[in-house]
Amino acid sequence: MAIQRVGVVGCGLMGSGIAQVCAAAGFTTTVREVSQDLVDKGLKGIDKNLARLAEKGAITSAVQSEIRGRLKGTTSLNDLKDCDLIVEAIIENLPAKHELFRALDALCPPATIFASNTSSLTITEIAAATKRPQRFAGLHFFNPVPVMKLVEVVRTIATDPAVCDELVAFGAKLGKTAVRAHDSTGFIVNRLLVPYLLDAIRALEEGVGSIEDIDSSMKLGCGHPMGPLTLLDFVGLDTTYYISQIMFDEFKERRFAAPPLLKRMVLAGWNGRKSGRGFYDYADPANPKAMKF
Ligand code: CAA
Repeated sequence: MAIQRVGVVGCGLMGSGIAQVCAAAGFTTTVREVSQDLVDKGLKGIDKNLARLAEKGAITSAVQSEIRGRLKGTTSLNDLKDCDLIVEAIIENLPAKHELFRALDALCPPATIFASNTSSLTITEIAAATKRPQRFAGLHFFNPVPVMKLVEVVRTIATDPAVCDELVAFGAKLGKTAVRAHDSTGFIVNRLLVPYLLDAIRALEEGVGSIEDIDSSMKLGCGHPMGPLTLLDFVGLDTTYYISQIMFDEFKERRFAAPPLLKRMVLAGWNGRKSGRGFYDYADPANPKAMKF
């Protein structure tokens, strides 16, 4: 069965990006949020991204309207019942994901593939809320979704290998490179990225270098597009703290343990770019200023 109709649940940062790339790749896409306000906010973000692509000449205005024509927002889960694939991108909360997938399992035909965009929860445990663990996998995108070229296809011990093959082919249709990972907490990227980001905070705590110098080192010395502390602000300090706790709980290894400074910044509400303050102050977003601790 080739995937044609895609449902996306959640139209926040990740869900809206996923919905945008699905519609852009030619899939009939329905994105669901819990309120009309959140649907409107998510679609507005997509419209802004598409308008920017049209301004840059990356797409014509005809293509822009075609993409938008394939994309529908809804508050009703019922509108997802005819989808071939449903990608969940809601809050990282297991009971909330279980409730959602239980409802979708009752609504959708047995052939529908379910996928979660979780970055830290166990796919096996999310799938346990359904009667279709063999048609359940992880599909982990990266922020910003329209730009980042990777998607991780995550297979549990119960996932049918043919479902993973379909998701790898689906990823390619989105213009992404799909890598296959087992359902090990953090998959491939966060397994490697999270200890690196936490180590950058530890280096700052230990006075190895300043915020700017740690960032410049990895940008200029290793060719990374963003230094680790800028990337932490971009991903969200609360998100990284949450992921590190889940990974530490799973592996009990120090490299996944949150440094005290990260915990204190999260407790203070300094969650990075989205809260206006993290390792940098974003009062002037075009010119972030390194914080003094
Ligand atoms: N949506 C759509 N397009 C965007 C965008 C967004 N949010 N942000 C930037 N872009 C586009 C720009 O329009 C621009 O496109 P053109 O080259 O066609 O003009 C391009 O991306 C480059 O943008 P900028 O010139 O503004 O800035 P940049 O060169 O610094 O690139 C970046 C921005 C792509 C975010 C780059 O800095 C980068 O790759 N950073 C690292 C991001 C990263 O590591 N993401 C993974 C985070 S981890 C994760 O997501 C997983 C998890 O589980 C936590």
